[in-house]
Parts: sequence; structure tokens; C-alpha cells
Amino acid sequence: MAKPDADAPAADRLIIPLDDEAATEALAARLAPLVRGGGRIHLHGDLGAGKTTLVRALLRKCGIRGRIKSPTYTLVEVYEDSSLYCYHFDFYRFQDPREWLDAGFRDLLLSSALILIEWPEKAGDLLPPADLDITLDVTGDAQRLATLRASSTTGRSWITALRLPAASSP
Ligand SMILES: Nc1ncnc2c1ncn2[C@@H]1O[C@H](COP(=O)(O)OP(=O)(O)OP(=O)(O)O)[C@@H](O)[C@H]1O
Ligand SMILES: [Mg+2]
Repeated sequence: MAKPDADAPAADRLIIPLDDEAATEALAARLAPLVRGGGRIHLHGDLGAGKTTLVRALLRKCGIRGRIKSPTYTLVEVYEDSSLYCYHFDFYRFQDPREWLDAGFRDLLLSSALILIEWPEKAGDLLPPADLDITLDVTGDAQRLATLRASSTTGRSWITALRLPAASSP
């Protein structure tokens, strides 16, 4: 997997301070309409950085009801409804980058669904590249710094949309 490029052109990168969990949910709310039709997002950050929290909020905003579990133990959680097809992966437990191939995930990973992957670096260079890499850095008890990097035309279109002023709440 290509590492998220620290030298990505500024147009391909967006840095968003998240002051609390509500800010993380607000970012998810803005991402949801962009990504619900499909695409690939890799989520980076330490244990407890907020990757699953962001995904949970994103799936809620995409209309998923019921429990949204972390795939830490199951490796993948699948969400399907009339308007969303999503695979949420967590590769933290992989010891070897080839394990995701052995686990039979290749077809899932190449589908046109919404693919969200925590700990993509555990799958090594074999993983198809993301449209968007999101890195969450812990900067305080509830503060996080989100760095978004686009690696495709699709990802760039998402970043362009996110740069537009947020629509005011009714
Ligand atoms: N601004 C914030 N954004 C996201 N999570 C936050 C924020 N502030 C506090 N938190 C808390 O940080 C924790 C993040 O846990 P979460 O499971 O989302 O992390 P993770 O990055 O998925 O970790 P892991 O690598 O273990 O899967 C949660 O307890 C959440 O409530
Ligand atoms: Mg997680």
C-alpha cells in the first residue's frame, strides 16, 4: 500500500481540528453524502484515536440503524441496505500482510461498495490504494487532528466538496 503522502499537494490535503466528539460527528455528516455511493477510505491513527468512532458516525449518517460494532475481532462488518453497501474492515490483528488475501477478502476489497479500512498498514503493499486516507492524531482528551489526503480523482472531488462552507443547520 502506498503510504499516505506527507508531501501531497496542498489541494489534495485537508487538515481539520476536531475539538470534541461532536466535531468528529460533524465531519462524518459532511462525508456521508459524498461517500455513500462507494469508494475507499483508509483510516490511520493509534489505538483509541477515533477511527471506529468516525466510521460509526459516518454509517449512522448514511442511514444505518441498529448496532454498529467495531470489527476488531470479526475483521469485517458488512452493512447492506437499499441505499448503502459497505464493508468496514479492521486489520489490526493481522500478523502477516498476506493474511487478508488468505481470508478471502480480495473480492470484497475490489468491489465498488463503500470500503472503510482501519489499520490498512497491516495489509502491507498488497492493498488496493485508497481514494482518501484519513489520519487521526490525538491532541487532547477529546481533541483530535484529522488529516485527509486524496489519492484519486474521486478522493480529490470529496476534498473539494469538504472545502466548501458547511451548509448551515436549519
Ligand atoms: N474527538 C473525538 N473523536 C473521536 N473519538 C473521540 C473523540 N474524543 C474522544 N473520543 C473517544 O476516543 C475513543 C476512540 O475510540 P475508537 O474505538 O473510535 O478508536 P480507534 O481509533 O478505532 O481504535 P482502535 O485502533 O483500537 O480500533 C472513544 O472512546 C471516543 O469516545
Ligand atoms: Mg477501531
